[in-house]
Amino acid sequence: MPTLGLLTGGGDCPGLNAVIRAAVRRAANDGYASLGFIDGWKGVLAGEFIPLDVASTNDIIAEGGTILGTSRTNPYKNPEDVEKVLTTYKDLELDALITIGGDDTLGVSDQLHKDHAVNVVGVPKTIDNDLSCTDFTFGFDTAVNIAMDAVDRIVTTARSHHRCLVVEVMGRHAGWIAAYAGMASGADITLVPEKPIDMDQVIAVLRRNRERGRDYNIVVVSEGAMFRSGDYVTSYEGEVDEFGHVRLGGVGNRVAELVEKHTGYETRGVVLGHLQRGGAPTAFDRVLATRLGYAAAELVVKGEFGKMVALQGNEIVAADLTDAVGATKTLDLDFFAVAEAFFTVD
Ligand code: F6P
Repeated sequence: MPTLGLLTGGGDCPGLNAVIRAAVRRAANDGYASLGFIDGWKGVLAGEFIPLDVASTNDIIAEGGTILGTSRTNPYKNPEDVEKVLTTYKDLELDALITIGGDDTLGVSDQLHKDHAVNVVGVPKTIDNDLSCTDFTFGFDTAVNIAMDAVDRIVTTARSHHRCLVVEVMGRHAGWIAAYAGMASGADITLVPEKPIDMDQVIAVLRRNRERGRDYNIVVVSEGAMFRSGDYVTSYEGEVDEFGHVRLGGVGNRVAELVEKHTGYETRGVVLGHLQRGGAPTAFDRVLATRLGYAAAELVVKGEFGKMVALQGNEIVAADLTDAVGATKTLDLDFFAVAEAFFTVD
């Protein structure tokens, strides 16, 4: 019986279980047995896995997180760990590996495919929506809806107290979540990693909007937004993961301090953090994740490896994995121009 291995790596993301469910079902149709590694590459290194079949993946489509667990383990940090991956792949007589993750997990997959001819197919996952070759990643829509809902709730406090509320959302390299959530909730201004924060502009917009009769303000800021110095603002200085990524969180509070200092408006910062990755996926993400999982297993059955399934337009396509991990998909500035039109002050 051919055997398929699956893993989920990096931050958890609504829709991971829907991918697993669809891939296992599609593979089973062609006689594949499936197994899922525990906690991403960590489980591959340790040879820890659970069997997966149609019955064990029933009823998980609506569940957030991942039934397999995840980690930010990087097998390329130590050469002997790459050997462990290859040993597990061989010992379990795997025919293919579906890896569901962001640029780190898929980068490792791409290396393993190129260096050691491991039969990998990638599935793009990240709430940040910053993976190339795909118009959207699953999890993004859920995160945006959570952020939008949070801002809607925060507005009632801001309005009641005539305060400025600065809401920090996720988005390490790209401002997709901030741009969508800011636009969807009618924020006064949205700050993203693609553009340096200009406090003069922030203050001018907030003042202008107060003069126009709105006696409270909402600022949405990506965790990865930076001042002109080009450095991250983080409350977790020095904390990095196995892929060298700095732990972010704190720029929203810094912006809030500056707003209060320069305008005198009572201001609070709110960091949404991991709330954005939690809970049930939206219908959009369940459907996208299902289509991607199905397509990934279909590539396995056809023997097409070194690919990442992707959404282009409304079609699911097979993109080249190397192309997909080669560049970050930052915010489309034409798209963002529509948001900016509302917070441009001459
Ligand atoms: O990559 C997705 C993401 O949610 C980023 O936006 C954020 O910076 C990071 O994960 C947080 O990671 P962790 O869960 O390890 O704190």
